[in-house]
Amino acid sequence: MSNSNNFFNGSLSEDWWKSAVFYQIYPRSFCDSNNDGIGDLRGVINKLDHLNDGNGGGLGIDAIWLSPFFPSPQADFGYDVSDYCDIDSDYGTLDDFDKLVFEAHKRKIRVVLDLVLNHSSDQHDWFKESMVDRTNSKADWYVWANPKPNGEPPNNWLAVFGGAAWTYEPLREQYYLHNFLAEQPDLNWYNPEVREALAEVVRFWMSRGVDGFRLDTANYYAYDRQLRDNPKRPAGSHPLEDGQEANPLSGYITKYSKDRPENIEFIHFLRKIFDEKANFTSIGEIGSSEGLEETLKLGADYVRHGDGLHMAYTFAMLSKEMNAEYFGHVVGFTEQMIEDGWPCWSLSNHDCTRMVTRFNCFAEREGFQQMMLLLLLSLRGTPIIYYGEEVDMEEYPITKEELRDPQGIRFWPEIKGRDGCRLPFPWDSAAPNQGFNTGKKPWLPAKNSLSLDQAQAYPESSYHVIKEMLKIRKTNPALQKGKFRQILLEGDCFVFERKTKDQTLLIAANFSTENHSIKLPLKVEKDLTPGALKHSGSIKNERLSLPACGYFLGKV
Ligand code: GLC
Ligand code: CA
Repeated sequence: MSNSNNFFNGSLSEDWWKSAVFYQIYPRSFCDSNNDGIGDLRGVINKLDHLNDGNGGGLGIDAIWLSPFFPSPQADFGYDVSDYCDIDSDYGTLDDFDKLVFEAHKRKIRVVLDLVLNHSSDQHDWFKESMVDRTNSKADWYVWANPKPNGEPPNNWLAVFGGAAWTYEPLREQYYLHNFLAEQPDLNWYNPEVREALAEVVRFWMSRGVDGFRLDTANYYAYDRQLRDNPKRPAGSHPLEDGQEANPLSGYITKYSKDRPENIEFIHFLRKIFDEKANFTSIGEIGSSEGLEETLKLGADYVRHGDGLHMAYTFAMLSKEMNAEYFGHVVGFTEQMIEDGWPCWSLSNHDCTRMVTRFNCFAEREGFQQMMLLLLLSLRGTPIIYYGEEVDMEEYPITKEELRDPQGIRFWPEIKGRDGCRLPFPWDSAAPNQGFNTGKKPWLPAKNSLSLDQAQAYPESSYHVIKEMLKIRKTNPALQKGKFRQILLEGDCFVFERKTKDQTLLIAANFSTENHSIKLPLKVEKDLTPGALKHSGSIKNERLSLPACGYFLGKV
């Protein structure tokens, strides 16, 4: 049952991931099948039809990325893995996993797993052995270094989740490196035995039928072997990520602790293993706090020439700032940098404030959300929808008592952490816990204002807009693979073209709450804008009129 790719016979092209629409599931929060308060794999299986039932029903999603469900002490909710080749009992069993792959493939949904290869949990057997002395068989599997003569950590590197990136281990009388929590020791990628062990992990899941990986923190694998201090950030330059100013790490340029030139060689190593399986794909999380263009350049470096990542996941659209100029610049600059690489876009994930709340500077919240989603689905590049975007999930104002996320616990109240974007999916407004389970208190409160049943009953909801747009994508190849060309970027409006040999499409968006009218340099033959969209543009006498937060799609 596990190797169930034959469902794709005849339809699986080598670059299926370029035209696919991905959907990120945070399994802990999707659906709780056994009513223990925690979402699980059987819950995901129960809800696959919502994504795509294989017969034209459901949203029409082509691939799911599942955040980690491997055995874990849950210090960072699964991003601390204590066994790479099993399933945590919170989420189910390997049998459940095989069933999930089978049921997904049956519906033509590909399955992408989240591999956390930069670090393991401190409860992984590898680390438990590595920490006991300097001579054991795993002694060099993590990054160990001697204290400074005064006993301090080897250098000034700071952890993303607070404090030094080094923790002292008395048994070895040495420090170990952890770019995130102390419970997440960094693996030593320079050690070939480590690389081989991770390659075996990759092969394990490939042979169980998965179609790709999302690689967690894929630019952290390498570190400066001389362990040089990170330079201080010059005053006046700002980190890209929303709300990170309060984190002392943002006072440094992380030149030596990540983004090392050797990192790309480690990615080349992984790519060779990915290429052992036909039609496999990868999305590496490549985040940088060195400004927008640096981030985009860095991402592009990983995807050119077909020997690195298939796609780089960028933080560029996870910004707080969003307007036509910013959006147009991100897209234009990416196109300039990426050459033969393929972009990948998303507007939200499990680490950042929900889009509908983040962009709340606009009166037209729903309109803005729908316009952004439609733009996401119109760009050249693979779009990733974050679970709940179809029901306009908003950021939940978490209280101190409800906090679960270690980042929020550490930095409260300056940084409130990531719980607010990880709420249970609201399936049913009339059911206990909005249908997430049958009544046991969920690990985070089930409190979204809109539920799926309500969104489905309302013809102009984001649910219907997305669903319709995914159908339009399927029948209009230029939306999937067409070239991008900017037509106009003026004030609040952004207009571009997607073009294949046989088809030219025009896409326009208005990022403001005022109406705009634009003289178009191209003649639009047919309006293809989803009918469910309330804020749709229209053409009259070669002028396009775009209402507040308006979007337009037309055939040229
Ligand atoms: C990535 C994940 C995040 C996690 C971190 C450490 O950024 O998206 O959730 O906390 O890596 O693994
Ligand atoms: Ca459960």
